[in-house]
Amino acid sequence: MIRVLFVCLGNICRSPTAHGVMLSRLKEEGLEEHVEVDSAGTASWHIGRSPDPRSQHAARQRGVDISDLKARQVCEADFHQFDYLLAMDSSNLKDLKAMHRVCGGTVPQLFVREFAHSFTEQEVPDPYYGGEAGFRHVLDLVEDACDGLIADIRSRL
Ligand code: 4NP
Repeated sequence: MIRVLFVCLGNICRSPTAHGVMLSRLKEEGLEEHVEVDSAGTASWHIGRSPDPRSQHAARQRGVDISDLKARQVCEADFHQFDYLLAMDSSNLKDLKAMHRVCGGTVPQLFVREFAHSFTEQEVPDPYYGGEAGFRHVLDLVEDACDGLIADIRSRL
């Protein structure tokens, strides 16, 4: 079993989007038995909340239902339970690296920089204070990077 954790700031916009898209892609590829997916936020503000309605809407437009997900905060145990710790932006990565210095385990990576092929962008920009286009852009980046991630996972299976 390969375990993947997506991490953003609040765990209500970007990482639940990646979580839902990845689950949906894994099912399409028949890999859902081999890969476990979760998401978490570096901040504690939204623990227990459903994804932002704007993220739910943008995901639904691409056929992905993320309405059942609930926000949680990343913790040190995650560094020992997940094989991939995938940060959405460089600020999330910085926070994860600071935790990693303390607890060791899986080395966190920047999701889009490592796995997207069709974009030169390195990060998934925070859509929270912007308009609908930002939420659609999250889907564009995440869909592309999930394809790259699945290829990487296949090479490990
Ligand atoms: P996320 O977006 O990190 O993609 O879940 C945000 C959600 C909430 C806030 C910031 C970013 N906030 O400031 O509450």
